[in-house]
Amino acid sequence: MSLPTINPTTTATWQKLQQHYDTMKSVHMKSLFEQDANRAQHFHLKWEDFLVDYSKNIINQQTIDLLVELAQESKLDQAIKSYFAGDAINATEKRAVLHTALRAPESAQIAVEGKNVVPEIYAVKHKIKTFTAEVINGTRKGFTGKPFTDVVNIGIGGSDLGPAMVVDALQFYKNHLNVHFVSNVDGDHVREVIKHLDPETTLFVVASKTFTTQETLSNAETIRAWFLKSATQQDVAKHFVAVSTNIQKVTEFGIDPNNIFPMWDWVGGRFSLWSAVGLSIALAVGYDHFDQLLQGAHDMDRHFQTAAFDQNIPVVLALLSIWYNNFFGAESEALIPYTQYLQKLAPYLQQGIMESNGKSVDRDGNLIDYQTGTIIWGEPGTNSQHAFFQLIHQGTKLIPTDFIGFVKPLYGDFEHHDKLMSNFFAQTEALLNGKTATQVMAEFNKTQLSTGEAEFLAPFKVFSGNKPTNTLLIQKLTPKTLGSLVALYEHKIFVQGVIWNIFSYDQWGVELGKQLANSILDEIRTNTVKKHDSSTEFLLSYFLKNK
Ligand code: F6P
Repeated sequence: MSLPTINPTTTATWQKLQQHYDTMKSVHMKSLFEQDANRAQHFHLKWEDFLVDYSKNIINQQTIDLLVELAQESKLDQAIKSYFAGDAINATEKRAVLHTALRAPESAQIAVEGKNVVPEIYAVKHKIKTFTAEVINGTRKGFTGKPFTDVVNIGIGGSDLGPAMVVDALQFYKNHLNVHFVSNVDGDHVREVIKHLDPETTLFVVASKTFTTQETLSNAETIRAWFLKSATQQDVAKHFVAVSTNIQKVTEFGIDPNNIFPMWDWVGGRFSLWSAVGLSIALAVGYDHFDQLLQGAHDMDRHFQTAAFDQNIPVVLALLSIWYNNFFGAESEALIPYTQYLQKLAPYLQQGIMESNGKSVDRDGNLIDYQTGTIIWGEPGTNSQHAFFQLIHQGTKLIPTDFIGFVKPLYGDFEHHDKLMSNFFAQTEALLNGKTATQVMAEFNKTQLSTGEAEFLAPFKVFSGNKPTNTLLIQKLTPKTLGSLVALYEHKIFVQGVIWNIFSYDQWGVELGKQLANSILDEIRTNTVKKHDSSTEFLLSYFLKNK
């Protein structure tokens, strides 16, 4: 079944939401809290180790009812069934979107073009389990008989961001292997990574779904050449493994077919960390932790598939985001984890969210005249408080923000954790309430400030408040809760794509730049500038003259 093609702005609910927005746009959240002493009780969701408080939003029960109605009118329920059933919902590439199958139980039956893919998935998982155990326990050795000490993941986009984010997030659960990531085609990146490595004890994982990506192949070739300065061609088989759908290209590169971990075209690159692309995760934290990550994601899949829309965490967060994006005109959203471990979550989700929903043509091929993909950005708290929070508090832009925090720290250092979490709670409170001129003046009255100075300073010290936030309070950062968290955002992306009537699983927008880069590379190599716009010609000529 294909996805429905409903222009959201033509639905009856959209018109109702527009009228409802007119009544809500000047409401201050403070008054909503004053009117309902139990507001947090009404607007929170509890699921497993997650508590999601969405009461600090400019909403009332009618807003939620209408947003849920929009999801229903957009036939979200039918879309969810198609997504999990393996229908070719990535219609422009004629592919299913089945990263969810990668975390399904072995007993599941999930068919792609009539064939159950679960046995193949588990065959690859068993291969990952055996391989990673051998590397970790040292029975698999390098070409001089030494056990591996380092692993380098060579990939970009989805073949880098997911594993890099998870390995960083799960450092607490790591073993002795040092895992490095090389992604950029910038030669300085690869040189910096390899300069401290020992070829005798380093394993290279070349991760590329297509095995045609310029960055990854260039880095893999550079690293292989560096490796061959100390080893022979035969030794490559011991040190290079690949994750790819393109078995032929991997073999042409010289990687032993036994060292290929297959993936499938029904796994999108940006959703591939659950596949063999997660090999570097399983190497870093061990297969059991990798499996728990998948289990957490599967649990979230079940929640998403079965919970009523108004009790469904990914659905509620997606609808709130549509409320701000399409009615309040918010352009971006921030994501602030209160743990340093999740410092790569926002960059990771930037690909997931913006490559998926950065689209301006609907599923019927028409140009869209409403807003789609949100811009996502963020950094861990409390660092971000000392960087860009000023703009969120007192700038002119509305930036709905997700705060992600954990009840328990990993090292049990409550001295620090209580300080961290006091900031976590204080920020959403400040963003909600702000500070009025009366409060500011009352504070001044307790100081020695003259009336003139107080009146001058007061406007700068006023915070309007009314800045929406969601608070995700999770018990503890574990492989399982991380899996659930990532799957939550994956499903949020899906819900928004369905409602915006766009195809979320292709990425044609990244192709044009790749094509032009290839032809410009020829010009650079041959030192001849061809016909471009005058700016590009001017810049290329300058570069060639000065390089
Ligand atoms: O950025 C475009 C893209 O196709 C991503 O979707 C993908 O994650 C990345 O390039 C890497 O692709 P591959 O895994 O095929 O090397």
